[in-house]
Amino acid sequence: MINIALDGPAGSGKSTVAKILAEKLGILYLDTGAMYRDCALKCLNSGVDVSDEVGVKGIIDGLDLKIRYDGGAQVTLLDGKDVSKEIRRAEISMLASTVSAHKAVRMKMVEKQREIASEMDCVLDGRDIGSFVLPNAKYKFYLTADSMVRAERRYKELKERGEEVDLNALHEEIIKRDYNDSHRDFAPLVKAKDAEVIDTSYISAEEVAEIIIKKVKG
Ligand code: DC
Repeated sequence: MINIALDGPAGSGKSTVAKILAEKLGILYLDTGAMYRDCALKCLNSGVDVSDEVGVKGIIDGLDLKIRYDGGAQVTLLDGKDVSKEIRRAEISMLASTVSAHKAVRMKMVEKQREIASEMDCVLDGRDIGSFVLPNAKYKFYLTADSMVRAERRYKELKERGEEVDLNALHEEIIKRDYNDSHRDFAPLVKAKDAEVIDTSYISAEEVAEIIIKKVKG
């Protein structure tokens, strides 16, 4: 089984690189961030504060979340409805970061992630894949990039989707989110000891993917 763990902070290029890898290697791409975004969206729609542990636990216990693949693209169904576009909204990012800090949320999502990874060759992107979800994955990479470069990438992405966002506000939010993600108690964002670091600030996603493919193909 090929499992490639791609971790790193927001905007480090994980999802773009993961999509290229999945296509070139003919394997599945599991976007684990989408799963935490789904939990956040469910809380938002149910009027539950993402910081409220008891409220969030109630949401998680009854969560109807399904992941499907449509021509290689991940489709997320929440209560039977395709929310793949909705979860990418800027306001969901911070909510996902907060909701993902709850242990009950992580355990439920991690169980699903491990199940998928044990059944299929895949590349998983996230924050704790190499360090916690799949500590025995053969291939582990930790992508980083300058925070302003990362904010600019997100800015471009959101603009292309028609969302009005302010670059400086986005930069501040990214720094705050990185802090949250790397300082939570349970399974924080961290470079696994045996992960290879790739700084993506000034190289293209194709080049990053090539570096990884070379390692995987040996
Ligand atoms: O990768 P993303 O921006 O879609 O992730 C949204 C949030 O979800 C991120 O700020 C932290 C959380 N997350 C996590 O805690 N663990 C993962 N494996 C993936 C995402």
